This record gives sequence, C-alpha cells and structure tokens, in this order.
Amino acid sequence: MNGNNNAALEVQQLTVNYDKTAVLWDINFSIPPGTCVGVIGPNGAGKSTLLKSCMGFISGISGSVLFFGKPLSQVRKRVAYIPQRLSVDWDFPMTAIDLVLMGCYGKLGLFKWVSKKDKLAAKKALAMVGMEAFEDRQIGELSGGQQQRLFIARAFLQDADIYLMDEPFAGVDMGTEKALVALFEELKKQGKTLIIVHHDLATVETYFDGVIMLNTCLIAAGPTKEVYNKETILRTYGRSSHLIDEAAKMAQEKVKGLK
Ligand SMILES: Nc1ncnc2c1ncn2[C@@H]1O[C@H](COP(=O)(O)OP(=O)(O)OP(=O)(O)O)[C@@H](O)[C@H]1O
Ligand SMILES: [Mg+2]
Repeated sequence: MNGNNNAALEVQQLTVNYDKTAVLWDINFSIPPGTCVGVIGPNGAGKSTLLKSCMGFISGISGSVLFFGKPLSQVRKRVAYIPQRLSVDWDFPMTAIDLVLMGCYGKLGLFKWVSKKDKLAAKKALAMVGMEAFEDRQIGELSGGQQQRLFIARAFLQDADIYLMDEPFAGVDMGTEKALVALFEELKKQGKTLIIVHHDLATVETYFDGVIMLNTCLIAAGPTKEVYNKETILRTYGRSSHLIDEAAKMAQEKVKGLK
C-alpha cells in the first residue's frame, strides 16, 4: 500500500455499516505527527466507531487506514487506544497496577512474569496521573474519574507514538482534566500524536490544533483555526436538538468573541 509517510494517521474512503446502515460514510482525512486533534460530533455520530475502525476492531469496513504510512499490523506497538470508559468490565478482579501493566504486555501477558523494571515503570505511570496511592486497589473499587486516569496511565506505559482516546475527560473533575491536558501537552512536546474524542465545544479551540467534525459524514477536518466555525458547528450538530443548539450557540459566541 502506498501511504503518505508524513502522516501519523491517514484515513481514506472509510465507510462502516452496522446492519446495512452506514454509520460512517466516505471519511477522508490526514493527521500530521506531533499534533493534538479533537474528534467532535453529536451522540451517535460515529466517533467511537471511527476510533475502533482505525484499531481494526470492526469488521466489514471499506477504505484504508494507515499509521505512519503503514497498516496497523506493521506498527501495532506504536499505536495506543483508550476506550470509552463504559465499555470495560470493572467487576473483573484486578488491581490498579495490574491494569496499568497491561500497557506493557497486552491482555494475555498479564499472566507472564512481571519484571522489576516494568513494575517501576507502571508505578511511574500511576504517579503521572496522581494514582500512586491506589496501586493495590481493586479496579471496581475506584471512582469513575480514578478509573479513567488508570486508562491513561496504561496508555503512557505503552510508550506509543500515537494515542487514540475515546472521551478521556468524561466523568473527571476540572482539576483532573487540567492535569490530563498538561500531560497531553507534554506528550505532544515529545512529538507524539493525540486523537481525542471530545464533547465540550467550549474547550475545542484551546485544547486542539486540529479538529475532525463528524456526523456520519465528515463535515470538516483540518487546523482548528481554519475549519472550526459557526457554519461547521451547525452542520455537525444540526438544529434537531435544543440542547445541542444551545451548546453550538455558546461556541459561536466564543468564536465571535475571538474575531
Ligand atoms: N455494535 C453495534 N451494532 C450496531 N450499531 C452500532 C454498534 N455500535 C454502534 N452502533 C451505532 O452506530 C452509530 C455510531 O455509534 P458510535 O458509538 O460510533 O457513536 P459516538 O459518536 O461515539 O456516540 P457517543 O457520543 O454517544 O459516544 C450509532 O447510531 C450506534 O447506535
Ligand atoms: Mg462514543
């Protein structure tokens, strides 16, 4: 396959159907390395499906997905994925540090011997997200925000070059969100690429260099300054929901204020 080697992620003509209904339709975009990109769109727009398709979790997709110009199978270790929190069985008996160590080995590897070095790295990752005091706690006994931080620690331990995160800020308090944003900035400085599904329109311009605006089809993709505006926000969210209109209005006010 001939991919654009300069892109951290390149998606071409991606279409995904569930039960013969298209949930993603002819999606095309390219993300330069070292950028932080937000994926935004209403509930059901296909944001999680986009990330899962890139990770090869969904069958029956058409189109091409290349990381650093190569298919995922050739660069798997360079790609980290943090799922939407609700999709995990938190009753599974596992401690916080076990979950983070999965970043080293993948699921099956949990039963392998864990080296001292790995354990130290896992502790460091836990400390990065302020969870060092909870390493021996069962994952089911943590709060939602704490569980979210564990996922992020696990992804850091993987030491990937690109991170796909599905709503990392969902259910975390403002302090945690700020700490995570600072951490993401740090990763970006190291040249890592971050792709983050995000719901809060008010922070899009401060958090993201680029945006992917989705509603089954691709509404816009590119640098935030160029493509994130009143028109694309309205096209992405439509006028169907009063609440979403309110959110779009707030974002518009913000855009106006900047002009
Ligand atoms: N396994 C599945 N089988 C059938 N339909 C699915 C499946 N998973 C998702 N869908 C549908 O695909 C569409 C896109 O879902 P997706 O989870 O990608 O949306 P999303 O943009 O992530 O939404 P949210 O903001 O609520 O997380 C929705 O209409 C959803 O009902
Ligand atoms: Mg989702």
